[in-house]
Amino acid sequence: MKSYTLQPAVAVRGEITVPGDKSISHRSIMLGSVANGVTTVAGFLRGEDNMATLNAMRAMGIKIEDDGSVLKIHGAGLHGLSEPEDIVDCGNSGTSIRLLTGLLAGQSFFTVLTGDRYLRKRPMKRVVTPLAAMGAKIAGRAGGEKAPLAITGSQLSGVAYDSPVSSAQVKSAILLAGLYADGETVVTEPHLSRDHSERMLHHFGADIEAAGTVVRIRGGRELTAREIVVPGDISSAAFFMVAGLIVPCSELLIAGVGVNPTRTGIIDILTMMGGKISLLNLREVSGEPVADILVRTSALQGIDISGDLVPRAIDEFPIIAVAAAAAKGRTTIRDARELRVKETDRIRAMAENLRLAGVRVDEAADGMTVYGTEKFTAFHADSCGDHRIAMSMLVAALVADKPCTVDDTECIATSFPNFFSLLEQVAVR
Ligand code: S3P
Repeated sequence: MKSYTLQPAVAVRGEITVPGDKSISHRSIMLGSVANGVTTVAGFLRGEDNMATLNAMRAMGIKIEDDGSVLKIHGAGLHGLSEPEDIVDCGNSGTSIRLLTGLLAGQSFFTVLTGDRYLRKRPMKRVVTPLAAMGAKIAGRAGGEKAPLAITGSQLSGVAYDSPVSSAQVKSAILLAGLYADGETVVTEPHLSRDHSERMLHHFGADIEAAGTVVRIRGGRELTAREIVVPGDISSAAFFMVAGLIVPCSELLIAGVGVNPTRTGIIDILTMMGGKISLLNLREVSGEPVADILVRTSALQGIDISGDLVPRAIDEFPIIAVAAAAAKGRTTIRDARELRVKETDRIRAMAENLRLAGVRVDEAADGMTVYGTEKFTAFHADSCGDHRIAMSMLVAALVADKPCTVDDTECIATSFPNFFSLLEQVAVR
């Protein structure tokens, strides 16, 4: 187990770019594989999660070349995948296993998907149930709730599914299955979750239509290869945005970040807290909005967060909890029960870690209340094997009174392989 000890900083300054968007990278590999022709992907995130998806598609016979800069995916068409010889390991990646389950449900072969000890604890019925309603044959541990999942490809038919959760993984699994289903598949969710699948399916020529929280797709239409440029991941930028806001005397420019409105809850929340954040040079790349984000040290205030802001910032709550702990007054987070079934229980993990830094945190079933504090006391935190907990506590360490240690930091490689070098690059001591 690797631990990391970080010295506090007097400022964070400079200009950085963060690695490519994890969600878009996964989707580019999956859609490129089942499209006709060669899809190129620039800015692909070579983190462990995305490499799990890439290796899965290679195991299904897809040729993917990587010259270190651009990926070339030799798409085999909707029906061109072949049965993998062995079980497919999705590692820590919920997106890999849930989206692949949807993609594989309508194939003409058998697949077994598994993952690491964290992924094998996470709920899978949320995708298995709607896919079974489409005619999928999927077995798993605990009555189909847990991986390994064994998928016997079968003929699917379109359904109209009202999802009880606002989850892009659930929505995307159903849409990918919908590519293979007879007729129309419709997914409705309570609040809009990230819509990268809808955008990219449209970009590849699928028969898809999205309106508000409802998406419709018609099966059978072949996809056409595209050139994809993946923007920087706003979920990775979020750690540096908060660092730039809470460390004194800071000014940081994060260039080329994806600012899809289904992902910018973090910008809205930090702005509501009084954060000085500017979006510069707004443009569109491969059907996704992109901007440069400038942040400056700000006096943050506690706020109340709930409702449709939650899915728009779902991966950012560990770092939002750090911003709240450094703010004046009280921040409440509600309607965020989903945080309990992420890579770890993120409500519990952040409450326990922030308490070690001298912060008062009250847990609720669906969120937490964080009481802002003047200065964090030196702490020794545990990531619980979760990349976003590890990075959040390392950002907190920048404003502690003495050096702090975070245990179990290898997991950062799942989404942000160069996090440490960027952090050390911008930290002024
Ligand atoms: C993701 C969807 C979200 C998010 C995850 C990536 C995706 O999960 O937390 O990191 O790429 O579709 P849920 O669909 O479970 O909310």
